[in-house]
Amino acid sequence: MEKYVILGGAKLEGEVEISGAKNSAVALIVAALMVDGTCIIENVPPVSDTYVLIDIINQLGGNAEFIDKGVLKIDSSNLCCYEAPYEMVSKIRASSYLMGALLGRFKKARVAMPGGCDFGVRPIDLHLKGFEALGASYSTEKGGIVDIKAESLTGASIYMDQVSVGATINIMLAATLAEGQTVIENAAKEPHIVDVANFLSSMGANIKGAGTDVIKIKGVDSLHGGTYTVIPDQIEAGTFMIAAAATGGDVLIKNIIPKHLDSISAKLLEIGVTVEEYDDSLRVIANKPLKKANIKTMPHPGFPTDLQPQILTLLTAAEGTSIVTENVWDNRFKYVEELRRMGANVSVDGRIAVVEGGGRLIGSPVSSTDLRAGAALVIAGLMADGVTEVYNLNYIDRGYEDFEKKLRGLGAQITRRADGEKTKTATIA
Ligand code: EPZ
Repeated sequence: MEKYVILGGAKLEGEVEISGAKNSAVALIVAALMVDGTCIIENVPPVSDTYVLIDIINQLGGNAEFIDKGVLKIDSSNLCCYEAPYEMVSKIRASSYLMGALLGRFKKARVAMPGGCDFGVRPIDLHLKGFEALGASYSTEKGGIVDIKAESLTGASIYMDQVSVGATINIMLAATLAEGQTVIENAAKEPHIVDVANFLSSMGANIKGAGTDVIKIKGVDSLHGGTYTVIPDQIEAGTFMIAAAATGGDVLIKNIIPKHLDSISAKLLEIGVTVEEYDDSLRVIANKPLKKANIKTMPHPGFPTDLQPQILTLLTAAEGTSIVTENVWDNRFKYVEELRRMGANVSVDGRIAVVEGGGRLIGSPVSSTDLRAGAALVIAGLMADGVTEVYNLNYIDRGYEDFEKKLRGLGAQITRRADGEKTKTATIA
């Protein structure tokens, strides 16, 4: 088992390049299965979720491989299989997109219920209701296999009861190869929804309105190959912004779309951090005492749930009492127990966390409980007095490319070690 060993106290300073968006890349990779030809997708982060999907595509009869740094070639011309059993999909939530992509392409799909990070119930009822509206029927079989089929798919008007990123993408995928027009109302507006729509459109789909809450898709007969570049990862960027703020640092976050980060910049300003905006970068400077703030996670353009653990960790250093309300997931505060080990004064009641800030964190051994919680514990380690060991790095590896290397480039004292390797306490660089 590997762990990060972090000696806290170093201010992060310098420049960091942000990778392609993991949550966008995983959707585009699956969408490429609908293309009768070859797609070249650039700026794909080489994180473990990406490799899981590459394996899945190859097992389904497609051909996916990295041909250069961040450049993924996917040839789905010979895709033959529409079944993705549990062993294939259990590691990754985005495998649910196989349902929409295979249904669109073959008008049938047999896919096991997807895996992914565990923060409460993760239903797919909205995805399935959408497929039904397009004319498909489904049954759930032993082992959690969802069997979906349609004689043909026909465009429909679909009102989403709740804003869902996954269901919006999945319905968009299936509707792209349906007959006639589909209108998705109350659609999610995350940057990666727009990215998926742009990707599909560049391969011949007809999609309008992505990024608003009404998306209109006119079905087409087939999609052709092409080249597309994934947008920058706004959650990775937000994680580095918060890490800079948490260490009293001064960091230029490069290769981003600042607009995607408006809700984070606004909160950091409220907390007392300076954020300077440039065309494709943001500079975060933290040289004043941090102020308390209240955070409510919301679908885009609200404050993203995927930065909730990181910002809560930052607020442990802010004077006063902050309230963090998690509005998206039922149970996304599991990591708070780990922060408490480090001396954080945080209490949780259901979806609300109360952070009594102002104290110092103390280096301790802690374990990631999911991807973003892992990143938050690394930030906690950077803030803490003494040495922190962060375990369960497999979560962090799912979504952050070269996390420790990028942090070390900014001056963090962090190394990756096999458990049992000796830790020097004076310096670990
Ligand atoms: C995506 O998950 C992201 N994953 C998550 O990021 C992110 O936390 C989430 O969107 C919200 O922004 C990927 O993009 C791969 P949802 P997704 O459907 O699509 C409820 C990370 O750390 N819901 O928008 O699974 C659901 O229970 C990951 O990178 C239903 O009720 O999220 C939740 O409360 C973790 N029925 C809410 O909607 C459904 O059929 C939002 O879920 C679907 C969802």
